[in-house]
Amino acid sequence: MFDNITEADLEAGRNALGGGGVGNRIPLVVDHGEGAILYDRSGKSYVDCTAQAWCLNIGYSHPKMVAAVTDFIKNYTHIRTSFETLPKLLLSKKIVELAPGNLDQVTYALTGSDANEGAIKLAMRERPGDTFVSLFDGYHGRTLATLNLSWPHPNNRFMSWSAHVVRVPQAYCYRCPLGLKHPECKLACVDLTKQIIQRGASEPPTAMIMEPMQGNGGMVEFPPDYLPAIRKMCDELGILLIFDEIQTGFGRMGTWFASELYNTVPDILVMGKALGGGFPLFGNVYNHNMKGFSPGDHSFTFAHFPVAMVAALANLQIMEEENLLERARIMGKFFTDRLKELQQKYEMIGDIRGPGLMIGVELVKDRKTKEPAPEAATQFVHEGLKRGVIFGESKYLGLGNIVKIKPPLVITENQGEKVMEVFEEILQLLS
Ligand SMILES: Cc1ncc(COP(=O)(O)O)c(C=O)c1O
Repeated sequence: MFDNITEADLEAGRNALGGGGVGNRIPLVVDHGEGAILYDRSGKSYVDCTAQAWCLNIGYSHPKMVAAVTDFIKNYTHIRTSFETLPKLLLSKKIVELAPGNLDQVTYALTGSDANEGAIKLAMRERPGDTFVSLFDGYHGRTLATLNLSWPHPNNRFMSWSAHVVRVPQAYCYRCPLGLKHPECKLACVDLTKQIIQRGASEPPTAMIMEPMQGNGGMVEFPPDYLPAIRKMCDELGILLIFDEIQTGFGRMGTWFASELYNTVPDILVMGKALGGGFPLFGNVYNHNMKGFSPGDHSFTFAHFPVAMVAALANLQIMEEENLLERARIMGKFFTDRLKELQQKYEMIGDIRGPGLMIGVELVKDRKTKEPAPEAATQFVHEGLKRGVIFGESKYLGLGNIVKIKPPLVITENQGEKVMEVFEEILQLLS
């Protein structure tokens, strides 16, 4: 299909392509990938520290995944959601085995945004009202219902259509909104959150939605007692707790789910991204004592796409066989140890957050004033590309000064060395 392609064909395609991407176009035409490496059409290789929006935890085109999918599609590709398929039944069984606590019911969606809308609907079936609590810089998607649950989008044309939301400050300890220090603060932010919910909302909210570690909104790692305190607060207020584990799930932080890491089970867990190993598959997990969906509440033509489910089954099997949770912990420590060494030498590294391969490096112009250095984060992306490393960057939200190192969990030590070499080269260049 791709033989005899000319530059003119590609340019015509570029001109025809409307908006809708995540941000600035990255000048790289992808050819193929292998493990943690992506190759462009010129044959240049890049260590990919984005795992393509943190989806490819098992790396690019794992041979076992490719074999499972290509073998399967000889049987069928698409089947309507009303039918049972082997992939759907086996995957549901597997997810319930891996899910934290008493979460034992699975439903599926095709994007993170519609999975979060599923969580909203599950909560609304369970409790009265339609007001939700979310964190200042949480990110839950770009559909009309999820936009407003995410960080404020001033003057955004679509906000008026969105869900009713009460936003509360998050435990962003590096820049504590209350100017306090953890643990002496005794989580004053949770007390404030409780008061805002009790006194600042025009009706008792239905649920609180949050990421257990905030990804797009600044890679904010919360202190270990924050999630249990939020759980307790929700129970006291009688509101449900939704964890959006779309980024944190399936090994990124060295455990199947961050809920496990922080010993806190939500009422509804939202999952996706790395579940399908590169195929679109998202969903919700909750307990059977909840009312759940009525027929037609949350149904999409391709939501039970069998091919993605086969991919997910192969993906989870590979993660177990290759011990990738442990690998995330080992390589996470490798990167954070090295970053801490660099922090001694370079003023620009303000804060290093993790754990596992969910790493965010907050760049500052001055370590004392903590003045953000967003231009430096952008430079990391540009200079990294030149040197064969793809870094992630937080461009949209407020500060925009975070470099992300979130590669496939299969990244090797040698590849890690290369990433850190390039990281230091860029620090030197910018210092
Ligand atoms: C935590 C989180 N929730 C929701 C979403 C939205 O997912 P999607 O882009 O598939 O709608 C994302 C995507 O980056 C995410 O990181």
